[in-house]
Amino acid sequence: MAVIALDQKAKPARPAKETAEARALRETPPGQWFPYAAPQPRERDNRDIAFSFRGISRKFGDKTVLDNIDLDVPAGQFIAVIGKSGCGKSTLLRLLTGLDKPTSGTLTVNKGAQGENRTRIMFQEPRLLPWAKIAKNVEVGLTGIAKGAEAREKSLAILNEVGLADRAEEWPSVLSGGQRQRVALARALVAHPYILALDEPLGALDALTRIEMQHLLESIWQQQTFTAVLVTHDVAEAVALADRVIVIDHGRIALDLDIPLERPRRHGSPDLARLEGKILDTLFGENK
Ligand SMILES: Nc1ncnc2c1ncn2[C@@H]1O[C@H](COP(=O)(O)OP(=O)(O)OP(=O)(O)O)[C@@H](O)[C@H]1O
Ligand SMILES: [Mg+2]
Repeated sequence: MAVIALDQKAKPARPAKETAEARALRETPPGQWFPYAAPQPRERDNRDIAFSFRGISRKFGDKTVLDNIDLDVPAGQFIAVIGKSGCGKSTLLRLLTGLDKPTSGTLTVNKGAQGENRTRIMFQEPRLLPWAKIAKNVEVGLTGIAKGAEAREKSLAILNEVGLADRAEEWPSVLSGGQRQRVALARALVAHPYILALDEPLGALDALTRIEMQHLLESIWQQQTFTAVLVTHDVAEAVALADRVIVIDHGRIALDLDIPLERPRRHGSPDLARLEGKILDTLFGENK
């Protein structure tokens, strides 16, 4: 795997020793690399890092939004990022996805065998092209990767996974909000990203659709083994879905919590409630 340092000024971190999975990925043609995208079984293994923040800060004028963040995320991990509004969650995702640059620090992201961009982002709004049919909207995710019949085939396959294969030839305007978000998820996943950044993707959905989408996201993540970085305001959602939750407060990581519970997890179980309590204490504890 090629390790790309996004901050050219800073000295890049020394690449970790290559694992068997990483070598298999490097030696596999891009069209076939997918099964090697993450180590199996999915355990923390610092030799296989999806991305790494080292002393990352982001300032806007005098205001320090992210302050010297260190964060290593192993390939295949599902991490949730929680924090009060304005604490810098979206800024962190923008840095991760290359939409913004840090003021200081080094960010390394594992890329594809040819150094291609294998990071995708999904937002609260689906951002579909209104003049393109559903299958075409999904094909946008393959720009520069596949076109023509190959792109169509991949688009239909991922639409099938999100349960919308029969809507491929319809316009976005005739879908419900939840269905549009499923199209956005399909577009984000069609190129089989290593890293999927999700910025409150379920925030605008009603409670039942939201739970359905959580199940869908979890099952596709289990199947495809990408690294998921989910920004959410919903503490219950974070502990239900993530392997690990980080809480950002005053520009720093105030809590880095493992969620070592088996899946599928049951909403409202005592174990989840205990972990939720820990996160809420960090956010709203006595000193807040
Ligand atoms: N381009 C920018 N220029 C100036 N300030 C910015 C810029 N982008 C973000 N900020 C500031 O950085 C802070 C963090 O913003 P960010 O969008 O990361 O917060 P957030 O945690 O995602 O909040 P929310 O939960 O409301 O989405 C805010 O105070 C915001 O005003
Ligand atoms: Mg935000």
